[in-house]
Amino acid sequence: MLRLLSLKLARVYRCAKFLFIAALFVVLLMNTHNLLTSFQRNELTDRRFISLNKCPACFGTSWCRKFTNGQVTFETWGRLRFLDFFNVKNVYFAQYGEPREGTRRVVLKRLGSNTELAEIDQKICKRATGRPRCDIVQAMYKTEFARLNGDVRLLTPEVVEGWSDMVHCPSQRLLDRVVRRYAETKDSGSFLLKNLKDTERMQLLMTLAFNPEPLVLQSFPSDEGWPFAKYLGACGRMVAVNYVGEELWSFYNAPWEKRVDLAKQLMDIAEQLTNNDFDFALYLLDVSFDNFAVGPRDGKELWSFYNAPWEKRVDLAKQLMDIAEQLTNNDFDFALYLLDVSFDNFAVGPRDGKVIVVDAENVIVADKRLIKQNKPENYDVWYESRYEECDKEACLSFSKDILCSRVTVDHNYYAICQNLLSRFATWRGTTGGLLHDPPPDVARDGHLAALLDECARPQKHFGRFQAAKELREYLTQLTEQASAKR
Ligand SMILES: Nc1ncnc2c1ncn2[C@@H]1O[C@H](COP(=O)(O)OP(=O)(O)O)[C@@H](O)[C@H]1O
Ligand SMILES: [Mg+2]
Repeated sequence: MLRLLSLKLARVYRCAKFLFIAALFVVLLMNTHNLLTSFQRNELTDRRFISLNKCPACFGTSWCRKFTNGQVTFETWGRLRFLDFFNVKNVYFAQYGEPREGTRRVVLKRLGSNTELAEIDQKICKRATGRPRCDIVQAMYKTEFARLNGDVRLLTPEVVEGWSDMVHCPSQRLLDRVVRRYAETKDSGSFLLKNLKDTERMQLLMTLAFNPEPLVLQSFPSDEGWPFAKYLGACGRMVAVNYVGEELWSFYNAPWEKRVDLAKQLMDIAEQLTNNDFDFALYLLDVSFDNFAVGPRDGKELWSFYNAPWEKRVDLAKQLMDIAEQLTNNDFDFALYLLDVSFDNFAVGPRDGKVIVVDAENVIVADKRLIKQNKPENYDVWYESRYEECDKEACLSFSKDILCSRVTVDHNYYAICQNLLSRFATWRGTTGGLLHDPPPDVARDGHLAALLDECARPQKHFGRFQAAKELREYLTQLTEQASAKR
């Protein structure tokens, strides 16, 4: 009886499977036309798809020529529009091709979800016409984004203060920098507003209010050593930045030495964003494993390997001989002869990755010079962020107003230790942080664990400042030991 039942069930199951596959086939067949066209068409040349028709209620136009020329194309899966349903963040991976230079990977961002973008449209319309729907282009001219006309000299703090995290407490020095480095204009380089067109001023303000990420990337550019992705340009409501590499999260189970190296770089980022020659403190408010990525490291001069361990030098020597061979005898019958061969004309390229912040939407910029000048209450008392229990992942406790009114703040160390490095870090069901499971010789004396604990959750007064410093030194020591072993 039981056997009969199971046979019957098996038949029903087979039948259902067949029906399902047949249905899928029919749906696919009916959609082949759609699928094919979505593979062939480059939607990025479509003004409506990139919301170019909404400018100046948009983020810029500097890359429009590249978009309309078809130089920017989606990578395979990105072409399937029905997958947009799952792409809540509106972040796309694409290729950008420059004639004669080949292609490179870029990331396109709409800077917000569809709901957020619809909300800003509604706000603009409400402000201009009192109704939630309207002609957005015309409405833009009746909003606060059009408030600055050609007669206003500078972008001043009272106009934009509080619009977004970047300008929670803006100084004139910061806003001059933002205007001077604004890339969505033909000749940038002036901090005077009169050098921007009316539409460019509106786009700048709209970006600042909606999501200041492009302006953070432009004001603190990667070329000058800031740990952010390189800003490339915008067209309509699509912003292009350099593709960095895989998320930090995908290194969670990397070999110990690799994780130590990444941890060291994260602590260096905390230090660089807090203490730098420009006296701007950039506090990260959204620190999680998916907001950092690991990209190629800039090459080092060959000279710096002169005293490297023997095996390393043998490896480099072999590679140099391979280069000599390849340039002389190759399939293309071109012989390339090097005329300036010296230690500084060769670099040793990326083998390990470099850590970069890929989500710069929630960054507070505090002008430490202004704080020292204004001397708000307790401005020179060191501020220690408080560890707080929290049952969600990647939470942080902070007061934006305190970050804006103290000169010495340990927020970045707190954020990186608590959310990424220490055993208190929780992410996608894991606990333990990037430095989980150290090898026995490191775990034995408990030094690393004690430093990480003190950095995330200090027991001593001002203990985090000291622990962060010692942790950086200790991680440097561990990375040096690891590279000596190699
Ligand atoms: N420049 C980049 N290089 C590589 N990956 C990126 C880059 N920018 C974003 N990403 C990936 O896209 C994801 C979402 O981007 P993000 O800017 O963090 O959006 P959101 O602000 O919605 O969190 C990131 O978690 C990361 O995996
Ligand atoms: Mg993010």
